[in-house]
Amino acid sequence: MPFVFKQSYIEYNPEGKETRMIPGFIVKLPTGDIVAYSRICPHLGCIFNFVKDPVECSKGYNFKPNGPVFACPCHLSVYDIAQGGKVVSGPAPRPPRHFDIKKEGDQYKIVSLEAGGIA
Ligand code: FES
Repeated sequence: MPFVFKQSYIEYNPEGKETRMIPGFIVKLPTGDIVAYSRICPHLGCIFNFVKDPVECSKGYNFKPNGPVFACPCHLSVYDIAQGGKVVSGPAPRPPRHFDIKKEGDQYKIVSLEAGGIA
């Protein structure tokens, strides 16, 4: 499921802060775990897609996965969601940044983005 996370941080401008809108995906894994990742590709910053069908991935991204993946249309990096966003194809240097999630009752709240910048 896609979402947009509003991240505010301190900045040296008249307002004293800056706000970014960061697109993300929240995914329920086959294990039942819930994970969330920024959609900003760690390679050069394009917005990647959720690709459920391995056949579609092999046609569009030159890689046939075993299950749903994140895949970037710019330079064809593919990330294995079930392996913590591991890069399984393409030039990306590392997995996408993950969001910290907090469960409140039967709902999940996106709390923060992994440190280190947005890409
Ligand atoms: S920007 Fe995503 S693979 Fe290059």
